[in-house]
Amino acid sequence: MKFFADTGDVAEIRELAEMGLVDGVTTNPSLIAKAGRPLKDVIKEICAITTGPVSAEVAALDFASMMKEAEVLRKIAKNVAVKVPLTVDGLKACKALSSDGTMVNVTLCFSPNQALLAAKAGAHFVSPFIGRLDDIHIDGMDLVAEIRQIYDNYDYATNILVASIRTPNHIKQAALIGADYATAPPAVLKSLIKHPLTDKGIEMFLADWKKTGQSI
Ligand code: E4P
Repeated sequence: MKFFADTGDVAEIRELAEMGLVDGVTTNPSLIAKAGRPLKDVIKEICAITTGPVSAEVAALDFASMMKEAEVLRKIAKNVAVKVPLTVDGLKACKALSSDGTMVNVTLCFSPNQALLAAKAGAHFVSPFIGRLDDIHIDGMDLVAEIRQIYDNYDYATNILVASIRTPNHIKQAALIGADYATAPPAVLKSLIKHPLTDKGIEMFLADWKKTGQSI
């Protein structure tokens, strides 16, 4: 399973990349607002850190304006994936951009049928938003499993990019289902490292090592 960092914070991406945890990055308008910096600068810097796909989202809602914005975004770097919402115009933009060889991430997917449409429009990624479904008491992982089955039934090449991840368990469950990618906030990715027995083991080894009086 590939990991994307879901953030517009360049310093955090750099740190995760040093641990080999960044196969790409996703951003959205909220994350860019949080970064408090110009979108183009942020995306350019991220694309210099990773050669993996970096999702940059259009803000327009109509097809013509989406295509104009996509033109600006895809010129920033070769590894930019243009992110479009799962709407009629978003699917039109997805179809046009994908046919032109641009990677498209269709975002804000909340149903298996929406995911089916994204695949038919040629999306490179579809982003089911798990946490936001969990927030309204619908199991987001059921959606991931259903999309997996549908894509496998028809051999769709669209990659399932599990998004709106809030917990380490979301990542484990997505991996068990066979989702292609997971995008998560840096804090969640880093929390995968932690285990109390690892910390305890280090403590015990250190104590015993001190008793030997040796140094390496
Ligand atoms: C994914 O591409 C989105 O940027 C992100 O996962 C949304 O997560 P949220 O629901 O925590 O805002």
